[in-house]
Amino acid sequence: MKSFHDKVAAITGAGSGMGRELAIELAARGCHLALSDVNEAGLAQTVSLVGDRVRVTHARVDVAVREQVYAWADAVVRDHGKVNLIFNNAGVGLGASIEGMRYEDFEWLMNINFWGVVYGTKAFLPHLKRAEEGHIINTSSVFGLIGVPSQSAYNAAKFAVRGFTEALRMELEMEGCKVSATSVHPGGIKTNIARAARLDPSVGQLGIDHRNATVRFEKNFITTANRAARIILRAVEKNQRRVLVGPDAYVVDWMVRLMPSLYQRLVVQFSRRTMAA
Ligand SMILES: NC(=O)c1ccc[n+]([C@@H]2O[C@H](COP(=O)([O-])OP(=O)(O)OC[C@H]3O[C@@H](n4cnc5c(N)ncnc54)[C@H](O)[C@@H]3O)[C@@H](O)[C@H]2O)c1
Repeated sequence: MKSFHDKVAAITGAGSGMGRELAIELAARGCHLALSDVNEAGLAQTVSLVGDRVRVTHARVDVAVREQVYAWADAVVRDHGKVNLIFNNAGVGLGASIEGMRYEDFEWLMNINFWGVVYGTKAFLPHLKRAEEGHIINTSSVFGLIGVPSQSAYNAAKFAVRGFTEALRMELEMEGCKVSATSVHPGGIKTNIARAARLDPSVGQLGIDHRNATVRFEKNFITTANRAARIILRAVEKNQRRVLVGPDAYVVDWMVRLMPSLYQRLVVQFSRRTMAA
């Protein structure tokens, strides 16, 4: 997609972080917006920030609820006449040991971070095919490239999003249709994700002090959400299969390429050193 001007973009999780910045950047490029989130206050703030240069609709949509996502996709096309882009961006965090993690928390995360992406892709795909150009942008993570202790549920969801999106991109190419797909792999981005995350005391088993884990985790957030949004939009313009967001994402990518399994030793050493500090 060479230009976003006069296109229509739907964004999940638009009430904060990268979803909000994607909305702001797309509006600046003349793209009409259909924004959704479960956080209605955050969503209202995003709407006020994008201005009135483009047509903006917004809705409370829980991406974990299939019917809501499908109803929203239909409403977007009804309200805007078409939809060209779906950013399956909404996501949550969870820190827990595998042994101590509650199934309730694991399922909560999978329903949002994995199933939310599947619902968004399948609900919007027929509408995107009817538009002159379409693109599906699914947010994975660097944790979709490497496994990390305490992040098993997040890893499972983000590895799954990556595999799902890579298969999707190839299927779209084989069909020869005008819809494409990009898998997004951000490193540490300065957003609310860590503060909104669930943290299980079982991380204590791994030597992680759950009282200050959020603050420690946020020290790894080095890229602004606005910079991340610009990088993601550039990748859509260039029709990239995947996009690494932030310098740390490149480091992780190279680490996995050079040491596909040995990287785990480095992660364990790094994690232990961080705990000791
Ligand atoms: N921040 C990072 O370091 C980082 C790194 C890699 C990947 N990511 C991913 O980027 C995406 C955006 O996260 P962010 O960092 O901007 O975080 P954020 O917390 O600032 O924004 C996430 C948004 O998703 C919304 N949301 C949560 N549950 C939802 C649900 N069930 N239905 C609809 N919306 C829901 C939240 O209300 C919030 O507005 C997520 O998928 C996240 O996993 C973030």
